[in-house]
Amino acid sequence: MKDDTLLTHAGNAPFENYGVVNPPVYHASTILSPTLEAYLARGSAKVRYGRSGTPTSFALEDAVAELEGGTGAVLTPSGLAAITTVLLACTRAGDHVLMTDSAYQPTRRFCDTILAKFGVQTEYYDPLIGGDIAALIRPETTVVYVESPGSLTFEVQDLPAIAAAAHDAGATVVADNTWGAGYYYKPLALGADIVLQAGTKYIVGHADTNMGVIVWKDHERYGTVRTDIQGLGVCAGPDDIYLALRGLRTMGVRLQRQQQSGLVLARWLADRPEVARVMHPALEGDPGHELWKRDFTGACSLFGFVLASDDMTALAAMMDGLQLHGMGASWGGYESLLIPTWPNKSRTATKWKETGQTMRIHVGLEDPDDLIADLEAGFERYRKAG
Ligand SMILES: Cc1ncc(COP(=O)(O)O)c(C=O)c1O
Repeated sequence: MKDDTLLTHAGNAPFENYGVVNPPVYHASTILSPTLEAYLARGSAKVRYGRSGTPTSFALEDAVAELEGGTGAVLTPSGLAAITTVLLACTRAGDHVLMTDSAYQPTRRFCDTILAKFGVQTEYYDPLIGGDIAALIRPETTVVYVESPGSLTFEVQDLPAIAAAAHDAGATVVADNTWGAGYYYKPLALGADIVLQAGTKYIVGHADTNMGVIVWKDHERYGTVRTDIQGLGVCAGPDDIYLALRGLRTMGVRLQRQQQSGLVLARWLADRPEVARVMHPALEGDPGHELWKRDFTGACSLFGFVLASDDMTALAAMMDGLQLHGMGASWGGYESLLIPTWPNKSRTATKWKETGQTMRIHVGLEDPDDLIADLEAGFERYRKAG
């Protein structure tokens, strides 16, 4: 099945529920057993306690597992919970984790605080390292973590080369695939062992709930991730899962439209005199373009740009009057967002050399002409105030 068909039907089983198209929202903690025999055997039942899964959660897990090309999945209440629980499940005291320097900042915070507290050491690597990562791998390296393109700076990583080096040393490759959303990028087919997404972004798609999904390729080796995560008491709530399932059904059309509009905005921004550089791997000339063309089938609508100056007064004049670009964290919803970012504050393995203000834009489902008019008026204020 092609992905658009899969997004429409995967995980649904209407005739197990009177023909109702969408899975019902099971609100459950207690699950009753009809007999003592069934009660004593409940450990092997698929539905045994709300926290360990219901037909609502199985529907979303099955659908995302299929989309990512995996053999199993587990939900978490947020994208960050997917990241932290996977790292806990895949490491033990004494281990060494290789983490891309371009990782989502709270991923770094978790590694530097909680993982460190448990005796796991994190070393950051240049996202563009490719196969040379082999030189950083130690006997105690158990996880090599990629996020491609990188948060805020959008470097594309050479996942097949990184995965080959990691696998030579027996390490597990974990990929944050929130940007590709399982639709435009398939890390499990390119060498990752475990892929996770903040479903909060494009799966949910409406800026109204947090959700995390973890998918693995080899059930024999990584099926225990589910047990570990459930052992931490981590589970997602039924109404949130329903919103994610509902969002998933339209994710393909949203992504296609947002890809198109994102490229229109990226090309327009690249021509502006106020902009020094656009960071969008689908743009010809972007440093990651060739790898993106090789490994991705499309681009979502989140990208970055660097302004020619770092004048905060001018930036405030621009941002404060925007009508259509909201200022807020997160992305992947139907609405456009624009925020300033500071990649230099979190890098340790590489140096962020740009001197102008870095920005991150998320292009929503509005008409791109209106978004351009909003930014054009913003740049007018920016020039006057600068
Ligand atoms: C790349 C990436 N991964 C993970 C997350 C975390 O998702 P959540 O906000 O649901 O915890 C985010 C959130 O912005 C993200 O950008």
